[in-house]
Amino acid sequence: MPETNSIVDIRATVVRTRTVSSTVSIITLDCPAIATAAKPGNFINVKVSDTTLPLLRRPFSIHNVRGAHIDIMVKSIGPGTSLFCDKPTGSTVMVLGPLGNSFGIAAKEFDTAILLSGGIGTAPMLFLEKTVAAQGKKVINLIGGQSKEDLLAGELSNCRFATDDGSQGFRGNVVELLQSELENLKKEGTIKVFACGPNAMLKAVAKFCHEQQLAGELSLESVMGCGIGICYGCSVEVNNPDGGLRTILLCREGPVIDAELLAV
Ligand SMILES: Cc1cc2nc3c(=O)[nH]c(=O)nc-3n(C[C@H](O)[C@H](O)[C@H](O)COP(=O)(O)OP(=O)(O)OC[C@H]3O[C@@H](n4cnc5c(N)ncnc54)[C@H](O)[C@@H]3O)c2cc1C
Ligand code: FES
Repeated sequence: MPETNSIVDIRATVVRTRTVSSTVSIITLDCPAIATAAKPGNFINVKVSDTTLPLLRRPFSIHNVRGAHIDIMVKSIGPGTSLFCDKPTGSTVMVLGPLGNSFGIAAKEFDTAILLSGGIGTAPMLFLEKTVAAQGKKVINLIGGQSKEDLLAGELSNCRFATDDGSQGFRGNVVELLQSELENLKKEGTIKVFACGPNAMLKAVAKFCHEQQLAGELSLESVMGCGIGICYGCSVEVNNPDGGLRTILLCREGPVIDAELLAV
């Protein structure tokens, strides 16, 4: 969790919106306070409208940080995301952040980061890639989608693709791609997996990491309200290290969790 005193609730200006597919846009916000404090894996909670519709803020990963600007990659799936994508340049939104914990990249526990993402789960990977690469570590992206139109590689480097329909790269899902590449990837030194995508994909990643004894972290999603541990709207069940399950508030103890917490 970022230092509480680095969390701000500010009015940020939409600097630019780029359409990257029929449903996905990258929105650039001018918010220096969040850009300075953000770490890969953090998210923001955005009030996308000045009316009560929608009433609740919507959570989004920080896709990239450039100077005083942050980029947010948004997939339009409902009223909140659609309003956000349609915000004109120069308009403003209220932004609370940076929120949540961040990916564990400080430790010297790995030589190569495997960034595994599916669909809009690619959103946090650019900020993570840039930060890991700046530490002199190698990064390999494994990106999955149903079809080639769903692959959101954007500015990511060293990408390998998996599509369910075989329209680009490996035919199958991104966990099967990891499985097929594992022996080669292990030649890159000690690897650590960082994953974000649909929860079903993340469960498969957790199981695979457990079976292969790979270090892994997963960025989970849930419905959220406040984003700061007050409303209890984001409770998620995870493995208790002593057996059984326990409930965490994803906005405080997540969104990034150790893969072991989801392994079955
Ligand atoms: C920590 C975190 C980071 C996120 N990062 C991003 C991001 O970088 N880019 C992005 O596009 N989206 C991201 N999301 C998801 C995003 O917050 C939701 O898509 C958004 O809140 C939907 O709002 P809406 O009003 O458009 O749709 P709604 O009307 O709220 O929802 C439309 C449909 O999608 C379902 N839904 C809503 N939220 C989620 C969810 N989190 N997971 C699965 N299904 C959901 C609803 O049940 C409903 O069926 C993130 C979510 C979390 C918790
Ligand atoms: S979103 Fe309110 S407690 Fe997590």
